[in-house]
Amino acid sequence: MKVSVIGCGYLGAVHAACMAELGHEVVGIDVDEKKIELLAQGKSPFHEPDLPALLDKHTHSGRLRFSTDFADISDARVHFIGVGTPQLDDSGSADLSYVRSAVDSILPHVQSGRTIIVGKSTVPVGTAQSLEQQIVDAGGILIWNPEFLRESFAVEDTLRPDRLVYGLSDDETRARISVQVLDEVYSPIISAGTPRLVMNYATSELVKVSANSFLAVKISYINAMAEVCEATGADVKRLAEAIGMDDRIGRKFLRAGIGFGGGCLPKDIRAFKARTEELGLPSLNFLADIDAINERRRYRVVEMCEEELGDLTGKRLAILGAAFKPNSDDMRNSPALAISDELAARGAHIVITDPEAGPILAATTDRFEVAASAEEAMTGAEATLLLTEWKQFSSLDPSEVAALPAHRLIIDGRNVLDPKQWRAAGWTYRGMGRP
Ligand code: UDX
Repeated sequence: MKVSVIGCGYLGAVHAACMAELGHEVVGIDVDEKKIELLAQGKSPFHEPDLPALLDKHTHSGRLRFSTDFADISDARVHFIGVGTPQLDDSGSADLSYVRSAVDSILPHVQSGRTIIVGKSTVPVGTAQSLEQQIVDAGGILIWNPEFLRESFAVEDTLRPDRLVYGLSDDETRARISVQVLDEVYSPIISAGTPRLVMNYATSELVKVSANSFLAVKISYINAMAEVCEATGADVKRLAEAIGMDDRIGRKFLRAGIGFGGGCLPKDIRAFKARTEELGLPSLNFLADIDAINERRRYRVVEMCEEELGDLTGKRLAILGAAFKPNSDDMRNSPALAISDELAARGAHIVITDPEAGPILAATTDRFEVAASAEEAMTGAEATLLLTEWKQFSSLDPSEVAALPAHRLIIDGRNVLDPKQWRAAGWTYRGMGRP
């Protein structure tokens, strides 16, 4: 099938490549010329495992094209909208202008009775309903199909998702046609036995934001436990292990540390809360606490540094990790960067290293010194802070790096190091919520 994907960020670029992998003829559209130029050469503009191979394969097979010109979508039957919905302002609301402008740009290319527009962006509940009429007036059909991919597993999550969610029009005919067409697009995924859940627009929009909020709640819950552990001499890692064995609770997303960041969780909980406030509901007021716990854990690391080192002015601190999570170069709302900025604001000299985000930082900022490796960053440091759990950081041998720093102080912001091993090698070890 001929399909277009509007927006070639983390979601859209991966979706476009995966649709080509499913056998479709795909054109990806973005306004960013540099990004499109890279993608058209089969190169990924960001670090995402498995994506470069797919881009290379399908830009060469001719099944995958990229363009900045909407005229190139004219023969597509299905248009996916994968543009961003960033936080608008302090209210936390989502900025829908990119979604609206994507719809406006698709409308002139709608073939009456044939074109399906598929919303994939994360939007506040009620958005699909508000977009439907203009699409219907142009002869198109709208279906909402939220995306649940995780960065660093994006290709895997797109080709082998846990579930497909379809949000349908209240109009039965339009709903039926859109399901038929989307089933055809996803036919290899559906044939593999992936559950496909059908619901109305509002429910599908809520599935996405409530799933992300639930994940944020889990992380902040265990981080709140970490605060209690710190006050009482308990160990949050053992606690998480023990409660996680109850399969009603589950072990995943109970890793205490410096909290969640990235392009999704922080903005999604704020937008969700803002939307319920618009609806006059107090239901999600607790998300303000989830957000506050998350922010507090970042600053806890700063406090720990001051507890150990006193005044930070002029002190060289090695920061291991800049991305919001490992195997990604995404630094949007990264806890590691927020902590580095706060330490720098208190006068510390920050030497940061990250295998993928490091070179980007070096090219775009002079706020920090950027080192090429953990060893280089740690040389002469008063403290080492592990803030993104890349394998090469969590597997550091404390004896091998013992001679590098000025002080053997390690702050493990992700609780991935073995305190016994580090202490045995002469280090002062501080974890999050651990004695
Ligand atoms: C998230 C959702 O997982 C995904 O389903 C949705 O489609 C987009 O948002 P992503 O932003 O890629 O995906 O990151 P995720 O793996 O969820 O991690 C988010 C943040 O939480 C990271 O900063 C991570 O370090 C942190 N985290 C995660 C914890 O601090 N503890 C945990 O136990 C798990």
